Amino acid sequence: MKKLFIKTYGCQMNVYDSARMAELLAPIGYARSETADDADMVVLNTCHIREKAAEKVYSELGRLKRIKDARGGAMTIAVAGCVAQAEGAEILARQSAVDIVVGPQSYHRLPEMIARIARQKGHALETDFPARDKFDSLPKQAGSTGPAAFLTVQEGCDKFCTFCVVPYTRGAEYSRPVAQVEAEARALARQGAREITLLGQNVNAYDGEGPDGARWSLARLIARLAEIEGLARLRFTTSHPRDMREDLIAAHRDIPKLMPYLHLPVQSGSDRILDAMNRRHTREDYLRLVAQIRDARPGIALSSDFIVGFPGESDADFEDTLALVRAVGYAQAFSFKYSARPGTPAASAGKQVPDAVKDARLRALQELLAAQQAAFNAACAGRAMPVLFEKPGRKAGQAVGRSPYLQPVHADGAAALIGEIREVFIEAVLPNSLKGRLGGAPSRAAAE
Ligand code: SAH
Ligand code: SF4
Ligand code: F3S
Repeated sequence: MKKLFIKTYGCQMNVYDSARMAELLAPIGYARSETADDADMVVLNTCHIREKAAEKVYSELGRLKRIKDARGGAMTIAVAGCVAQAEGAEILARQSAVDIVVGPQSYHRLPEMIARIARQKGHALETDFPARDKFDSLPKQAGSTGPAAFLTVQEGCDKFCTFCVVPYTRGAEYSRPVAQVEAEARALARQGAREITLLGQNVNAYDGEGPDGARWSLARLIARLAEIEGLARLRFTTSHPRDMREDLIAAHRDIPKLMPYLHLPVQSGSDRILDAMNRRHTREDYLRLVAQIRDARPGIALSSDFIVGFPGESDADFEDTLALVRAVGYAQAFSFKYSARPGTPAASAGKQVPDAVKDARLRALQELLAAQQAAFNAACAGRAMPVLFEKPGRKAGQAVGRSPYLQPVHADGAAALIGEIREVFIEAVLPNSLKGRLGGAPSRAAAE
């Protein structure tokens, strides 16, 4: 067996893609290993979303080159993912140790590319196949999986927010057919998945071909997957506020397997900035949407992404973002300093915000979000909730799982319960997790 090391950067879709790459390479003799040090092949599955993410790849490539040189060149290095798509041949020019550059829509060609470079020496570069080709030619059965699995149902983005590289790196929106998704979900369930998170850059724009020939919405797809025996939980991410249609809101009311957690990025609370970002909704639209969702599923935990220091963002605009956060109350959120990305409209816009101002705004926003997260977690103390145990904890006998709200929960004596969902009584709230006791008060209602 040859050793394959895959390092994954960026979003959950890359995590999914990395798993599929490992499955593709297994039949040609590669087994996944934990380190690059003795690997025959290394794949960096990269992210281009912010400058820092992209730069990390080059420093890692420098490190890999030293290992490769020390071994007289006996290592194949592949760069996959969004940096591969965005920079293509530039990567080969900048780092000579790289053998293969493969974009996110082309990685099903990896086995063939590996054979090609073995045959003729030199490099291989593939960056331009539509997502449809990829999904049609990936292995039909997913490999082994944990209790909580990811499943890509939609890829690409047609929204063109002015700050974002994704429409360029992942291409146009494409939804996988319902039957293909369902077959993969059933395979995952057979292999022990109890929870599936449906992935898409704009997952709620899902518009896949149904078995009846009609286009199915994400809500309809979820209802179908909820019928699969053994699957206990469904989630989806990431949603765009513009595509949060009525049937999907209703699904949060009507489908108990759909977990009460929704990541709904808003980016900014200022109408002026939302417009400049081309988000195509207002602050009021978003707040109205949040009210409708909470109406459908009281107690649902909301999460978001924010960008501070978008070009032209004034103190008043930033105050609008803080005010929106206070109005919504998030259980969790991610926030980033605006990073100018080559080729995107906002990168060449005037009035770039100085870095020191971005820093100060990020600190203020993160302080507020951390306080909200702490308050949400604190409110869970003393409650019982169902936890899906996913892996062993740090201490012997312990296991760690997730609450319906995606909080990590650890409990003593749960090590034998991995893959199972148990009622857990929340005893303490720690900085990054909840501590639970098994067999807590059986108050199912508290978790609804
Ligand atoms: N499709 C999702 C987002 C995918 S990118 C959506 O529409 O919300 C994940 C997050 O990265 C974005 O929500 C945004 O907050 C952040 N991001 C994207 N481009 C960025 C940039 N140029 N600078 C800083 N953060 C960015
Ligand atoms: Fe990027 Fe906007 Fe598309 Fe999200 S919706 S992936 S932020 S362009
Ligand atoms: Fe990054 Fe590409 Fe995901 S840019 S966030 S890996 S879609």
